[in-house]
Amino acid sequence: MSAILPPAERLWYRHPIDRVEGTWIAIALTWCLIMFFMMVGWHIWGKQNLSTETYRTTPDKFMAKTQAMVDKYTVRTETDAKVPVVKPPPGSDVYLVARLWSFYPILELENGKSYRLHLTSMDYNHGFSLQPANINIQIVPGFEHVITATPNQTGTYSVVCNEYCGIGHHTMVGRVYVK
Ligand code: CUA
Repeated sequence: MSAILPPAERLWYRHPIDRVEGTWIAIALTWCLIMFFMMVGWHIWGKQNLSTETYRTTPDKFMAKTQAMVDKYTVRTETDAKVPVVKPPPGSDVYLVARLWSFYPILELENGKSYRLHLTSMDYNHGFSLQPANINIQIVPGFEHVITATPNQTGTYSVVCNEYCGIGHHTMVGRVYVK
């Protein structure tokens, strides 16, 4: 019998399973289940996947709140684009806007203090990947994602967009200072 001919018995599922095949199916299924429940477990015990609260918002509403914070707490500007560096008081609500292809503004936070960090996108799907803390959140337009953040290490953090968002995606970076 040649392999290019269809099997004579068409109802393949009536054939007995070979022991090796059955063993592989069992191994694959077990591994699938382990990985599936690891997703749930990692959310609980891992430190990278945060539970966010999510609310509906609009670009105008969110930008108004962001701009109010920027107007009140800007301490300096950085780069040729004069991006404001904002130092909101500990415990306050902090806003960060993602848009083609930047994050606005730059945040300066105090080590060991908690903040309510609000994120939204003005246009398309973006990502909030905080490095080197390796925190990762998807930023979806029309929604306000809120996380309670307590920085525990001083330094300069990079915010990287890790959702492909067009021709300038690779240039979409932001910054958070923890002092
Ligand atoms: Cu924003 Cu990629």
